[in-house]
Amino acid sequence: MNKSFSAFLADPDPRSRESLRSALAQLGSSQIVGEADSGQEAARLVLWLKPQVVFLSTALEEPGWVETATSILAATETRLVVLTDRDDVEVARAALQVGAQDLLHRPVDVQELRQALGLATAPTAAPTLPAVTSNVLACFSSKGGVGKTTLSVNLATAIARQIGRSVALLDLDLEFGSAATFFGLRPKQTLADLCADGDIDRAKLHHAMEHPVGTHVDLLAAPADREGASRVDGENLPTPAQGLPDRVARILTLLRREYPWIVVDMGCSFRRATLTALDQADTIFLVTTPDVQSLENARSSLDVLLNKLDYAPGKVRVVLNRSNSSLGFTYNTINRVLGTNVSFSLPSDPQATFTALTAGRPLVLHPDPGPLSDAIRQLGSLVIGALPPPQQSAPRPWAGWARHFWQTFDRLVSSLSRNSG
Ligand SMILES: Nc1ncnc2c1ncn2[C@@H]1O[C@H](COP(=O)(O)OP(=O)(O)O)[C@@H](O)[C@H]1O
Ligand SMILES: [Mg+2]
Repeated sequence: MNKSFSAFLADPDPRSRESLRSALAQLGSSQIVGEADSGQEAARLVLWLKPQVVFLSTALEEPGWVETATSILAATETRLVVLTDRDDVEVARAALQVGAQDLLHRPVDVQELRQALGLATAPTAAPTLPAVTSNVLACFSSKGGVGKTTLSVNLATAIARQIGRSVALLDLDLEFGSAATFFGLRPKQTLADLCADGDIDRAKLHHAMEHPVGTHVDLLAAPADREGASRVDGENLPTPAQGLPDRVARILTLLRREYPWIVVDMGCSFRRATLTALDQADTIFLVTTPDVQSLENARSSLDVLLNKLDYAPGKVRVVLNRSNSSLGFTYNTINRVLGTNVSFSLPSDPQATFTALTAGRPLVLHPDPGPLSDAIRQLGSLVIGALPPPQQSAPRPWAGWARHFWQTFDRLVSSLSRNSG
């Protein structure tokens, strides 16, 4: 057994899951990647999450534990530990027959748990990363529907998986934020509650966070309405916002103390909250799609970011989403229109985005990764420094296009150049 392993808890009794969580925490070497309270949910999530160890209670129903264990072990390489509160030889025999690694009695004894997992007797320290300074990654575009939330949610999830630590996701699309939906959540707390009154401290911050099941993402969800949005940054209040504390700055400062990686999803306007987050970001992913309107928006946003806000060019990275969509342009044309190079491309994957949204699960957690999942996970590796930067001479996924498209591109380039003049 590795020093650090991923675990999944399948038990209908919340108190029993809590007790196992605390036993695992005492061993200090596991990451709980998901939980389920029915057999069906357990089998479905284990297929997605591929934990190294599944703890499965004999109290499971729909279907029962034997069927659940059989279907999990038929489809995965996971180790199975059966939990029971019955001193029953039939249970022991059935556990053996389905191929369980061990049988433990509830409430679980830490020493027995250690033995079952084959861990060394001395407690193993929690996996630690080399000391990292915190990094804020902001996904922005002044146009909606280009993929900011798709990127933010999946990048946060992918990075968390890769580093084995929690990543904070801040939904600063204050009026129309949808990050929670991508996790299938209806948030109980949002940024509006966090900013309702008084100072913001660490305890309030954590109280306001959602923890989407099966991810290591700690989400601060967007407010549910305009009034809530106004509470966060003071915009659109009947009285002007001057003098109000910058709550977004405070939140980011608190997040930076605890999280090596913070991903910020954004709306389309340069409102106060956006400007604070853009200022504080280490990297801004300017998201665009390869169509006329998005490219125009991206170009004028780049002008604001680089010329009006004076950010260093290296701070702003263009991400071309749906790069192979059929009405796109060549890289050369896009780079010329934007006046800068595309740093990273994400392909179209309508099936994966649809499935993920319907299931309320980030697509990077899907058991059969598609091209978009691969690309976002690759971008995650790139930003955390696990991959060398991509070659400048990126392949042209849309090479071999019809001539009339080229004529349209050239018309677009000259019209954009005229407008910028
Ligand atoms: N690479 C992609 N391939 C296919 N569909 C995508 C892709 N990226 C985003 N989408 C879809 O486009 C829509 C808008 O995406 P979203 O991330 O909400 O954009 P934004 O946050 O910029 O408004 C969503 O329905 C999403 O599933
Ligand atoms: Mg969005």
